[in-house]
Amino acid sequence: MKREIITTGDGSKTIQIMDWQEQYHSKHGAIQEAYHVFIKSGLDLFKDQELQILEIGFGTGLNAFITLIEFEKRDLRIRYTGVEAYPVLNEELEQLNYLEELKSLSRKDDFHLMHSSPWGQEIEITKNFSLNKQQKFFKEIDAFNTYDLIYFDAFGARVQPELWTVEIFQIMFNAMKSGGCLVTYAAKGSVRRAMLEVGFLVERLPGPPGKREMLRAKKQ
Ligand SMILES: C[S@@+](CC[C@H](N)C(=O)[O-])C[C@H]1O[C@@H](n2cnc3c(N)ncnc32)[C@H](O)[C@@H]1O
Repeated sequence: MKREIITTGDGSKTIQIMDWQEQYHSKHGAIQEAYHVFIKSGLDLFKDQELQILEIGFGTGLNAFITLIEFEKRDLRIRYTGVEAYPVLNEELEQLNYLEELKSLSRKDDFHLMHSSPWGQEIEITKNFSLNKQQKFFKEIDAFNTYDLIYFDAFGARVQPELWTVEIFQIMFNAMKSGGCLVTYAAKGSVRRAMLEVGFLVERLPGPPGKREMLRAKKQ
């Protein structure tokens, strides 16, 4: 499928899948969305502990990189797992402007290591932050009682409805520890009902700019 790099509303870039008219991040602002959905509504619930994070759709690595920028302020020790079936190409990564837009040029080596690190191995990116990228399909995740926080960042249900089902959320529920939570930019009623069906407690929260609501699901 044809892909293009586009600039979103806050100046940060993302990848657009032309055939689907779907982007890796919000057109209103990729960085803005990542901070709102995954950091403010997810990471900020935790402090001073080891935190196991699972990302559904590692993609450009933007959420992982922002987590790397933010985790020390919360005294966290992060073990980050990013699942991705179709890794982003190096030519595409080179066109993204996250280091500049996040004023993090000093972390260039960390960003590059995140992408060059081998799949299927836990690698220390920096002190207290390890990354384990796994190249596989979401439905192949078989972790049990492992993750404190899940960043659920699949393409929308409009284009990949099979990723927003009871079957997939059951896999997320099983993979999560009690007391953990999942955050996603999505707010559709069918998504919320699938989450409820597998046993999550689900909250609607204000969405990032351009979106009225988002969802946060907790496992008691
Ligand atoms: C919305 S994008 C993720 C954006 C990413 N979190 C980022 O910050 O760049 C969704 C990702 O899911 C991946 N993907 C799509 N279907 C998948 C599947 N069935 N299993 C695993 N990965 C999949 C895509 O390749 C894409 O990278």
